[in-house]
Amino acid sequence: MRKLNFYYSLMLLAVGVMAASCSAPQEKEKTLKEAFDGKFLMGCAINVEQSSGRDVVGDSLIALHFNSIVAENCMKCEKIHPEENVYFWDDADRFVQFGEAHNMFIVGHCLIWHSQCAPWFFVDEKGGLVSAEVLKQRMKDHISTIVGRYKGRIKGWDVVNEAIMDDGSYRDTYFYQILGEEFIPFAFQCAHEADPDAELYLNDYSMAKPGKREAYVKLIGQLKEKGIRLDAIGIQAHAGMDYPDLQEMEQSIQAFIATGTDVMFTELDINALPNVFEDGHENAAVEERFEYEQRMNPYVEGMTEEAQRLWDSRVDGMLGLALKYHEHFRRVCVWGLCDQQSWLNDWPMPGRTNYPLLFDRNYQLKPVMKKYVK
Ligand code: XIL
Repeated sequence: MRKLNFYYSLMLLAVGVMAASCSAPQEKEKTLKEAFDGKFLMGCAINVEQSSGRDVVGDSLIALHFNSIVAENCMKCEKIHPEENVYFWDDADRFVQFGEAHNMFIVGHCLIWHSQCAPWFFVDEKGGLVSAEVLKQRMKDHISTIVGRYKGRIKGWDVVNEAIMDDGSYRDTYFYQILGEEFIPFAFQCAHEADPDAELYLNDYSMAKPGKREAYVKLIGQLKEKGIRLDAIGIQAHAGMDYPDLQEMEQSIQAFIATGTDVMFTELDINALPNVFEDGHENAAVEERFEYEQRMNPYVEGMTEEAQRLWDSRVDGMLGLALKYHEHFRRVCVWGLCDQQSWLNDWPMPGRTNYPLLFDRNYQLKPVMKKYVK
C-alpha cells in the first residue's frame, strides 16, 4: 500500500509538472484572471472531477486562470436534494472547499429551476400536484437549507433559472402553474433571509431576443418595486457561430443596465457545430434532444481554418461586449474548462466533437486568447 502511495505521489507530481508546463503562461503572458483584472471576475463552471481533485491538470489550470467558480451540476435540486428531507452534500461541500482553497468568488447554481429538479418536489403522497402552500414550504426548506449551509461562503446565487420564454411569456413550469408569477419574488425572499449578504441573480439563455429582454426588464422593475434584492442579471451566453446577434445582445445589456442592475455572462460557450434546431433558435433548453447524425458532426478531426476564424471572431465579439460594458459586468464565466469536458459534445445531440471553450483538448489556452493575455 505504501508502495502504491509512493507511485501515486510520483504520478501526481508528474501530472503536476505537466499541468504547470501546459498551463503556465508563456513568458510575460498573463493569466486570464490577470488579463481581465479590474474589469470583471473570470469564472469557470467546474465538474465533480474537478471539485473532488481527480482532474489534477484541470484543477491547476482553474486555480491559475480563474478567480470565480460555479458548480456545473452538483448543486442542482436532483443532485443535492434528491428526496424530500434527503440532502447529498459531499460534492457541493468539496466544490465550496475548492473555491475557498483558491480564494475564489464562489457562485451557487441554481436554487429554483424547472430542469434537473427532483420529481418529488411537485408531487403529493397521492401522486397529484402539491398545493401552493406545500410548494412554498418545500421551496423555503430547499432554499434556506442550501443557502444556509453555505452562508457567508457562497457569495452569489442563481436564485431562479430560465423562468421566461423567448417570446417573453412565463415558462409553463410546475412552479409557475402552482404559484403563478409569485414564485420568483418568493424564491428571492427565501434566499435573502437565509443569507442577507449573498448576491442574488436571475439567470437565463437567449437573452438577446427582444421578447425575453422586455420581459426581464419588466420583471426587474417588479422585483425592485417590491424591494427585493437583485444584484445582477445572468446572461447565460450559450452562443454559436451565428447567434446571438451581437447588436441585439448589446441592446439587452444596455436595457438591463438601464434598470440599474448589473449584468454577467454566466455560462459562456460558443458552439462550433451546426445548429440542430430547425429554426436555428438560440436554445439551451437541456430537455430538448436529438438523435446523432454524422452530418451534424463535421469537425471530428479538427476545425477548418475558416470555421476557426469565425469561432475566434465570436469569442472576440462576446468578450468585446463584456469589456465595453465592464463597469456593469460583474463576471464572465465559461461553462467548462476545456473542449472535451463541455456539455456541448453531448447536447443537444450525443457523441459530437465540439470546440466551445477557451482551452483545447490538450489543456492549452486557444490562440484567440493570446492577445488578451499578452
Ligand atoms: C448543463 C450541464 O452542463 C450538463 O452537464 C447537464 O447534463 C445539463 O445541464 N443552462 C444551465 C446549466 O443553466 O445548468 C446547464 O448545464 C446548461 C444550460
